[in-house]
Amino acid sequence: MSSSTAAPDQIIIRKCISLDELKACVDLQKKVWNFDDVDIVPLRLFVVSQKIGGQVIGAFSGDQLVGFSFSIPGSRNGHSYLHSHMLAVREDFRNYGLGRKLKLAQRDDAIAKGFELLEWTFDPLEIKNAYLNLVKLGAITRRYSVNHYGLSSSPLQGGLPTDRLVAEWWLKSNRVVNLLEKNQPPQFTIEKKIHVPAEIYAWKASDTNRGKAAEVQKRNREEFIAAFRAGLAVLSYERDSQGNGTFLLGRDQFQSYASAGAEQGNHED
Ligand SMILES: CC(C)(COP(=O)(O)OP(=O)(O)OC[C@H]1O[C@@H](n2cnc3c(N)ncnc32)[C@H](O)[C@@H]1OP(=O)(O)O)[C@@H](O)C(=O)NCCC(=O)NCCS
Repeated sequence: MSSSTAAPDQIIIRKCISLDELKACVDLQKKVWNFDDVDIVPLRLFVVSQKIGGQVIGAFSGDQLVGFSFSIPGSRNGHSYLHSHMLAVREDFRNYGLGRKLKLAQRDDAIAKGFELLEWTFDPLEIKNAYLNLVKLGAITRRYSVNHYGLSSSPLQGGLPTDRLVAEWWLKSNRVVNLLEKNQPPQFTIEKKIHVPAEIYAWKASDTNRGKAAEVQKRNREEFIAAFRAGLAVLSYERDSQGNGTFLLGRDQFQSYASAGAEQGNHED
């Protein structure tokens, strides 16, 4: 972190307001994902989101934007919800809790607007993101989307299909309230585990080893889809001291906005 910027505990989390603040989100997006121009979410969509009940929330170090979360409103079977499309923290401010704080600010704002559900997709090979979503926030997942965006220009994707899990964050559910307010993680019987090796990041980044990452993606894709079809959901996550990640699956009763029978398996509505 540069000496001219605030310490992480002095970062202010608040809604982005001016056009310049929204432009700063677009610039940070470019730095974080390194997308080609064709894959960039443009300024105009940030403006639209702000005006139609979405969310653009920033983490500010003084007047510098060092992180943001971005959502758009969605609707399924007559229920309104928020879809969070991006969460980004500048590299030198990571692992200080800002990602979590940006999600908590989304939650507060969503509840104030009357929403019960915030969803987003995440790459099941990203161990850190899975840990943040499932363990620190209490999201669950029971839907898998194969090659969700088609091939991506972001180096973070390593040229692999853009497979995604859909995180559902039931904002006022007992599991989320107990976790966030009482620090009580959910209790459940683990019926299945799905593993991601710590080497996945190095494999994705290497031309010679990318095939190994592709094998893990393919194997895990099949396991997730079969497990979701069998009625299991991802309810938590473990990381070990070597940095390996493990999805923990079990059963629970969850609210759903999907039509009957549409929630499980390999499909996105
Ligand atoms: C995902 C991202 C927003 C998280 O922001 P952040 O401010 O670093 O997140 P936080 O500090 O709130 O939480 C991260 C947690 O993951 C943990 N973590 C860090 N590296 C990890 C790893 N390799 N494996 C597992 N967990 C890891 C941190 O220790 C922290 O948990 P802790 O508070 O219990 O220690 C940030 O890494 C980022 O911008 N990534 C690139 C873009 C991206 O992938 N966005 C999300 C998908 S849209």
